[in-house]
Amino acid sequence: MTKLSVNINKIATIRNARGGMLPNVTLAAQRCEQFGADGITVHPRPDGRHITYTDVREIKPLVTTEFNIEGYPNSSFLDLVKEVKPHQVTLVPDAPDAITSNAGWDTIKYESMLADIISDLKSCGIRTSIFVDTELKHIEGAAKINTDRIELYTESYATEFLLDKFSAIAPFIEAAKLAHKSGLGINAGHDLNLENLAFFASNISNLDEVSIGHALISDALYLGLEETIKQYKNCLK
Ligand code: PXP
Repeated sequence: MTKLSVNINKIATIRNARGGMLPNVTLAAQRCEQFGADGITVHPRPDGRHITYTDVREIKPLVTTEFNIEGYPNSSFLDLVKEVKPHQVTLVPDAPDAITSNAGWDTIKYESMLADIISDLKSCGIRTSIFVDTELKHIEGAAKINTDRIELYTESYATEFLLDKFSAIAPFIEAAKLAHKSGLGINAGHDLNLENLAFFASNISNLDEVSIGHALISDALYLGLEETIKQYKNCLK
């Protein structure tokens, strides 16, 4: 079954609004796992506006499922992940001031940079994933640089799903087929929610993992974290 990794950045955003420890991000990570999450994702950004490097260090020893750290691979990010050694690092090409990730890698333009970083991370025993759109040349490029997995950037799916879910999913089916044929594992994320997740997961075979933050944490305000995680997991059945 496709794994659900819960992105807990938003918990840190609320905490940071006041400083202090409320809500407690390490407790939130533990509760997500207790309620059935298969993994915890964090995305520390250079300005520390949600998850901080200190959070990452505190969360790692508590995670009993899979820990996934996403981010732009600048030197401080790479030092952090090599120190913390999560199960997976997802490389994202986001500018330091981006509100959220807004594009996948151009795996042709950045081939040599990504290949070096991936080889370095893999030599530390860390599984690698890179954030990509559905352009087939970028999937081919991902296979060439030896990453273990890709994470399909699903914002376009989520937007188009509201108009025509069949045309929204079509490029993702093709991209996933090529990725699987090329030996790549497949993750997906961004703007997935309780309305669009089941259709996505049922149409993408070999989907290893989805990572979901914004909608899931928002739903938890109304449904509670336990019920929310249960409903997202049901979408993946
Ligand atoms: N994947 C990546 C690379 C991301 O940057 C994000 C947002 O932090 C997500 C997945 C999760 O997206 P959302 O918060 O919309 O569920």
